[in-house]
Order: sequence, then structure tokens, then C-alpha cells
Amino acid sequence: MTGPLVLAVESSCDETGIAVVEGGRRIHSNVVASQTALHAAAGGIVPEVAARAHLRWIVPVLDEALADSGVTPRDVDAIAVTYGPGLAGSLLVGVNFAKALALVHDRPLVGVNHLEGHLYAAWLLDPGEAEREEPVFPLVALIVSGGHTFLVEMTDHLTYRLLGQTLDDAAGEAFDKVGRLLGLSYPGGPAIQRAAEAATRRDVAFPRAWLPGTYDFSFSGLKTAARRVIAGARAEEGLPADDPAATLSDATTAELAWGFQESVVDVLATKAARAAKEIGARSIVLGGGVAANSVLRERLHHEAETLGLPLIVPRPGLCTDNGAMIGAAGARRFLAGERAGLDLDARPSLPLATR
Ligand code: KG4
Ligand code: ZN
Repeated sequence: MTGPLVLAVESSCDETGIAVVEGGRRIHSNVVASQTALHAAAGGIVPEVAARAHLRWIVPVLDEALADSGVTPRDVDAIAVTYGPGLAGSLLVGVNFAKALALVHDRPLVGVNHLEGHLYAAWLLDPGEAEREEPVFPLVALIVSGGHTFLVEMTDHLTYRLLGQTLDDAAGEAFDKVGRLLGLSYPGGPAIQRAAEAATRRDVAFPRAWLPGTYDFSFSGLKTAARRVIAGARAEEGLPADDPAATLSDATTAELAWGFQESVVDVLATKAARAAKEIGARSIVLGGGVAANSVLRERLHHEAETLGLPLIVPRPGLCTDNGAMIGAAGARRFLAGERAGLDLDARPSLPLATR
């Protein structure tokens, strides 16, 4: 493979990720230090704790990423770094680290939008993976993470048109909040998926906010409905309302987790497929942490198959935050001639595209 060799740094949320990626596609190394265990006790991310953990782990993560790939910072064509959106303190660690690397090793610096990284994860190939076709334009991408939920049309590289976004909670945020209500471990997404797999009675129905005539999403009503249903189930099982340690029976937890997951997946997959059909897309891309969800993956596969379109969805480990996806997007930005100065700053609310 040809193309720029990029050293990429990701620290926008609670994973410290550094990767070496060639040509915006081939992963040479991809090391992620996850902080989920650190935040589990609090049931969510504590920004100050996250920033300190990035500081603690970023050098060992770099050392491992370089050792795994056998390259030195001098060998790379560019250093790419996530500069937004994300938590200010977390972003600052990665941005300043990447700036220092760029300065010390005299390499060009490229700023990358984290959401663009999730999208470009669709182009990544694992070290030994066989070549396969790239996503074909125009495409529709559904990006669903802990902080974002949107549908975007891509007519070419780095060219986005926002089709719809969440009006309130992100899909991952809804998973995390309902996971907490069910007394499941943090993060809620994987925990709900696991719990739902055990459901035997699969008939509980949660509401779906279709927001007709738009590609927008809303999950706050679903969250409120879940809170009400969970409170009702707790009363039925004689559990105290104010003691989170007293959890519902496994059977009820599984059934409610299943119903909630169905509702989220149904709306996401239906709207993504509708958008792909209406704009005449030639492929569909799925990305972001929630794209690790097996039910969403299967459902969208089915929808894409019905439309006769290829669905490109990275393996679960490349859907959640990692450095390789920043290397994929960073290479495109680098090839487009983009360079960041040493005044590159963290942009916690950086948008990907506006309507
Ligand atoms: O993309 P990501 O790693 O970080 C952000 O940029 O936000 O996404 C994290 C989100 C969390 O809300 C987590 O609960 C969700 O992705 N998630 C899942 C699954 N794995 C991670 N949601 C549903 N099912 C999963 N298997
Ligand atoms: Zn993310």
C-alpha cells in the first residue's frame, strides 16, 4: 500500500489511543488504554479523572504503538490528533502531546475531527486483512456514539451534508442512562446488549420517536418511558424505589433491556435505510461506539441487503474510540494539504457538518 504514514493520537473522551496507519487505511499498530474501569464506580465519566488518566497513559501507549509497528516518529509523514469535539481537559492532553511530538521530531501536524474519525473507521484494514473495496460515494453514514447521533451524506472525501441529528440525548447516552436505571454496569451499551441476549419473553414494547418528515432523532422520551416502566417493574417485584443495590430479577432485566434496545435499533436502522434510499446512496456506513452493538449491526445489514447496498461497519473494536480511525481521517486531511500550526487548540464543540 502507498500513501502517507500517519501517527495518530486520540484522547477526546475516556480512551487513550495511539496508532500508526498507512495510506488512511492499513493499520500498523493501534493501542487503546481504556478508562472504563476507572469511571465505573461513578457510573459515568468524571472529566477531571479522565484528563489525569490520559496524562498517565499517553506515553506508555505511544511507546507500545511505536514498538508494535516498528516505526519511529521520524519515519512518519504526519502526526494527526483529535482536537474536537470532546471533553476539554481530555482533548488538551492529546493536542499538546501531538504538538510536542510534531515540534521535537519536525513532522507536520494535522488536526482531526473526532466524528470524522468515526466515519473513516470504515476505510480501515487490520494488519493482515485482505484488501477489500472502499465505501462508494455517494454514501449515507450513521454515526452513533456516547455524545453524538447523526446521519450524514458524503458525496466525496471530506464532504459532508448533515441529514439529521439527535434533538436531545445521543443513542449511546440513552443506553448508558437506561443501563444505570437497570442497575447494570457502566458503560450501559455493552451491558444492555449482554442482558438482552438472555431475554426469553420478547414482547415488551417501548415507544419510538419517529419525528416524521425528518431524519432527526429523539431519545429523551424513550428514556422517560424506560424510567416509568422500570419503576413499575420494581414496585411489582417489591423493591424499594430508592435503593439501587436492590436490582430487578435477571428475567425482568433481560426483557426490559431487550425492549429498550429494540426501540433504539428500530429507529436508527429504519431512518438510515430510508435516507440511503431517498438520496440514492451507493453504500451505507455505520460507525461510533453504539455501532459495536450486534443487534444494530444485524438489523442494518438486513436493511442494506434489502436495498441491494453494501453496508460497511468496522469490527466492534474500531467502532469505539481508537487512534486508528484518527489516522484514517488524518491521512485524508494531510493529502488535502491541511496542516495545523502549533497554535492548534482543543475545540470541545467542534461540529462535523451543519445544515
Ligand atoms: O464512540 P464511543 O467509544 O465514544 C464516544 O465518542 O462517545 O462511544 C461510546 C458509547 C457509549 O455510550 C457506550 O455505551 C456505547 O458507545 N456502546 C454500545 C455498545 N458498545 C459501546 N452501545 C450499545 N451496544 C454496544 N455493544
Ligand atoms: Zn467517539
